[in-house]
Amino acid sequence: MTFTVAVDGPAAAGKGTISRAVAAHFGFAHLDTGLLYRAVGARMLDGLDPVEAAETLQTDVLQRDDLRTPQVSEAASKVAAIPEVRAALVDFQRAFAARAGGAVLDGRDIGTVICPEAPAKLFVTASDTVRAERRYRELAAAGVETTFDEVLQATRDRDARDSARATAPLKPAEDAKILDTSQMSIDEAVAAAVAAIEARR
Ligand code: DC
Repeated sequence: MTFTVAVDGPAAAGKGTISRAVAAHFGFAHLDTGLLYRAVGARMLDGLDPVEAAETLQTDVLQRDDLRTPQVSEAASKVAAIPEVRAALVDFQRAFAARAGGAVLDGRDIGTVICPEAPAKLFVTASDTVRAERRYRELAAAGVETTFDEVLQATRDRDARDSARATAPLKPAEDAKILDTSQMSIDEAVAAAVAAIEARR
């Protein structure tokens, strides 16, 4: 049996946490597709051409420990605007989505471009100040020196780039369930996501 759950939304809205919890709840495999773009961004910072980096991407690169740094976040958002980079990553994502036993993919264009036929689609969002606050706390806990204002500005810049790009811009699929987590605890958000997916099963 295949069953694809598409989870899209802006950075730090809670997509990753919700997707992991939903995958564990239903026993589905989970792919954080942002990691693919981060790996391409990291290889670009290493000096590779981004299109070549995407076309030759091996899954072991997803284990690099620098993929969550602010520098790689910015590079990922830039390479993600290149149509040839996106095209090179489509087959891997679709094959993952079609795996037996069910799959959860989280990203920006899963419900709109990668898996438009997915039976369950969520668009997880939150206000930019709430998302910047969450990201700031994560970075501070990881020992990264930054300020809330810097994180808020970076969040807004990344939102603008992800939403304004011509290829696969960030937007909810027409049949996506919108989940605004601004006022929700993690448990509440996960429960709402599980209920929305159950309704589509
Ligand atoms: O979800 P994230 O912050 O790890 O994503 C990193 C960057 O990759 C982000 O700027 C948007 C881009 N991305 C994308 O364009 N499409 C996806 N399916 C996933 C991520």
